[in-house]
Amino acid sequence: IESLRGRDLISISDLTIEELRSLIEISMELKRKYYSGERMLNIISGKILALIFEKHSTRTRVSLEVAMRQLGGTSIYLSSQELQLARGEPIKDTARVLERYVDGVAARVYRHSFLIEFAEYAKIPVINALSDIEHPLQALADIVTILEFKKSLSGIKIGFFGDGRDNVLHSLMLAVAMLGGTLYIATPQGYEPLGDIWKKAQEYSRETGAEIHIVRDPVEAAMNADVIYTDVWVSMGQEKEAEKRIRDLRPYQVNNELISYAKKDYIFMHCLPAHRGEEVTDDVIESRNSVVWIQAENRLHTAKAVLASILR
Ligand code: CP
Ligand code: NVA
Repeated sequence: IESLRGRDLISISDLTIEELRSLIEISMELKRKYYSGERMLNIISGKILALIFEKHSTRTRVSLEVAMRQLGGTSIYLSSQELQLARGEPIKDTARVLERYVDGVAARVYRHSFLIEFAEYAKIPVINALSDIEHPLQALADIVTILEFKKSLSGIKIGFFGDGRDNVLHSLMLAVAMLGGTLYIATPQGYEPLGDIWKKAQEYSRETGAEIHIVRDPVEAAMNADVIYTDVWVSMGQEKEAEKRIRDLRPYQVNNELISYAKKDYIFMHCLPAHRGEEVTDDVIESRNSVVWIQAENRLHTAKAVLASILR
């Protein structure tokens, strides 16, 4: 997509609705190509992406690095611990140095403001590889997965269970709002989505007819749902609050009882990694309705769509 060239992707709402739709289409097209044997595409040959990661990652890191190679480019993985950043070199200095070496940066950070500051000082594109507030690359794969199994978002009820202030949920909520879908968020008091993100989602909903509801009763969100989605109760960086969070979120576990309210052909989704016995039981994640491996696979195809569009 011509308009995305050189742009940042820090929030899913950095995209216009049109651009979001195009990225979804391109992802599906790239997936078809992949399966027809066209794995290596010289779309961004010679381009170099740096990955700055402050936290662990399996899917995001590997999908981005493989995507760069399959598109003809390459990548450099930088653990933030090994950069001078860890010894106090300012983010703004790091940004102005790295922009002289690489064509783009994907960063996984504790504080969302890291991304904003980096993008302010670096002329190269900055891609959010997960922050405390958003995970836009995940939301793209989530929407592609839902469309693969349910064809369209219209008439499809998505239920999310657990931490309503979750980064993955924030991006998913914005994407669903932008695309006019229906999302029920079952979460306890004190775990509601961040106000700014909620407001943005409401604005999109007014424009697109999307329906986003916050409910206390998990059964209300699970009733006749087509998609059952959950994420961990203790995100990276929240380890100190683990005990309280596990106690508060316990009633929102996705288990056989809860899914008995969903449609027979519901799909179970989770961005992974999962904590079996906490937010989801082993039977549900291992069941025939679970699409988590395909959802994880789609991270590769969506990463390629993003990188091909931005780094072109
Ligand atoms: N879903 C996801 O972002 O996984 P990683 O933490 O393994 O990158
Ligand atoms: N909410 C989780 C997502 C991991 C991909 C976390 O931030 O740890």
